[in-house]
Amino acid sequence: MQNNHPIGVFDSGIGGISIWKEIIQLLPFESTIYLADSKHAPYGAKSQEEIIQLSIKNTEALLQLGAKIIVVACNTATTNAIKYLRAHYDVPFIGIEPAIKPAALQSKNKSIGILATKGTLNSSLFSNTSERYTQEIQTIEVIGTGLVPLIEQGHIDGVETKELLVKYLKPMIQAGIDYLVLGCSHYPFLLPILKDILPDNVTIIDSGEAVARQTKAVLLQNGGIIKKKELQPTHQLYSNKNTETLDGIIIRFRESGQISKNTVIRTIYKEF
Ligand code: DGL
Repeated sequence: MQNNHPIGVFDSGIGGISIWKEIIQLLPFESTIYLADSKHAPYGAKSQEEIIQLSIKNTEALLQLGAKIIVVACNTATTNAIKYLRAHYDVPFIGIEPAIKPAALQSKNKSIGILATKGTLNSSLFSNTSERYTQEIQTIEVIGTGLVPLIEQGHIDGVETKELLVKYLKPMIQAGIDYLVLGCSHYPFLLPILKDILPDNVTIIDSGEAVARQTKAVLLQNGGIIKKKELQPTHQLYSNKNTETLDGIIIRFRESGQISKNTVIRTIYKEF
């Protein structure tokens, strides 16, 4: 593995930025390339065949840009396409799946909620994991229809977003859940509203940090970590729609101190 090459990350849009942020915090000397396939979002309602084709396209684009490892920062693409990608490309792939296992193991009420896309909830990877860990647990699965397009437009705290969330969380609150699993990488952007709506005893979990740790572990195994601290990493964030929403997120991350002011980040419009 070429250790001075960048880590490649893709998602159906800006959602995977929630994972990318964890990666650059855990691996501060690594350069990254991020592909926001916003032009084809949402992936969640597409067929498995379409999701595989889009994942191939994103993988090819990242490989052309020199990625040494690919993080599929999208639950829908992971649950529907990662098996295919791993079988057809030599580069290591890291995926993201809803964190059902920790939620099921830690739930005291034996009741957990899972908010995800249709594509994720209908996938066999999801049902296998769910069957394995939730035998004695009540699971309330809800499809977050309409949320991804609103987040893609930057309406993270708008009235429409809140109304949808109130509707989707109602059956979960009624069922007495004490864990909510965010099964879509776009949803961590909704954390402030989710916390407003949910009772205080509900813990919200997503898999972003776990994905960053797994990325580091796989790079270490392959001798692919940059060790030279003097190298200044660069981060190129590509969107095939427009860079405005990405720019907005980066500004917010910088203002809140989640990303240092010295981190070099470029947002770029590109066809892919
Ligand atoms: N971020 C994607 C995920 O984690 C969103 C899917 C979509 O585009 O519908 O599933």
